[in-house]
Amino acid sequence: MKIKHDHNLKNHNTLAVDCRCERFAEIESLSDLEALPTDTKITEMLVLGSGSNLLLTEDVNRLVVHIKPRKYITVVDNLVVAWAGTPWHDLVTWAVDRNLGGIENLALIPGLVGAAPFQNIGAYGVELQDSLVFVEVYNWHTGDYHRLSNEECMFSYRHSIFKYHDQPWIISRIGLDLRPNRPVNLSYAPLQEKFPNPDRTPTYKQVAQAVCDIRRSKLPDPAELPNAGSFFKNPVVDEATIKRIQRRHKDLPLFTTRHSHEQKTSAAWLLEQCGFKGHREGDAGFYDKHALILVNHGKASGQDLLRMTKMAKRAVKVKYGIELEEEVRVL
Ligand code: EPU
Repeated sequence: MKIKHDHNLKNHNTLAVDCRCERFAEIESLSDLEALPTDTKITEMLVLGSGSNLLLTEDVNRLVVHIKPRKYITVVDNLVVAWAGTPWHDLVTWAVDRNLGGIENLALIPGLVGAAPFQNIGAYGVELQDSLVFVEVYNWHTGDYHRLSNEECMFSYRHSIFKYHDQPWIISRIGLDLRPNRPVNLSYAPLQEKFPNPDRTPTYKQVAQAVCDIRRSKLPDPAELPNAGSFFKNPVVDEATIKRIQRRHKDLPLFTTRHSHEQKTSAAWLLEQCGFKGHREGDAGFYDKHALILVNHGKASGQDLLRMTKMAKRAVKVKYGIELEEEVRVL
């Protein structure tokens, strides 16, 4: 394993922020993980996959441990086991090609397998936690591997134990229970529209294809327009706030999630009401087809992008009294 110094990270974050890191190590295998310096403190290391959920606001004065994209998937004891560096969508394709169900609704989510448990990736009514059996982590302080069960991962909406940052862990592999007899989940309205005949159950592959079509129609491809997916989480709103907003907006979107009985509203809707859909200042802005997507039109710096998100947060707070919380990790 080679450690590079003063390395540029522009090609390692999907918002294409031009910044540098102090040291940069490329990991391609378990033996590379095992060669990492054991004395590095948690705050001195940043584990980076494809950087698809990250806003870098300044140079990174840490050792960046880059998990290099490399597909490696096996089946062990009926579980599908994937190496952290496997591109997530490659795993979905691998599964649907073998008629194994469970993650087809998560097609085309950017990023690598190792990042998926971090925020319990979810889309179109399905979350990673629905099929995940274990997460294997490497502890770079002790050199040991440890397996966390689904329950131990403490999954909730875009959240898991891995967000606490208080363990010297790098996710090395995950194990999933993907099966040919899982019911498909078409609960999300745009998916139902794609399969209107209730007597014809689509294959996992057809569902994955439909999800790809929906995502491509409203989310920008980071290779064409740098972005990090949904920038904010959908916020929980209390009854009083709902009533107050509904006096002016009967169309306030409301939904519950499986994680709570509390109601959530759409962060995209709030941002659109505040005029941020398609809003742009210099090269920092929000996508014109989906208000929740922060985009870099070219040379926006991390600070330019951060300023735009702060402005949007403030506007939503002032107009609706709702505090938006970042889904993307801001460093
Ligand atoms: N909407 C607007 N304006 C917009 C876009 C959307 O008002 O510009 C409103 C509409 O009412 C729409 C509602 O927002 O019905 C929901 O929009 P959408 O279906 O696009 O979903 P979302 O809540 O914005 C969430 C996830 C996405 C996931 C989709 C589909 C979060 C923060 N985001 O987005 O996840 O793909 O649902 O399940 O939960 C991601 O995490 O990066 C991500 C893309």
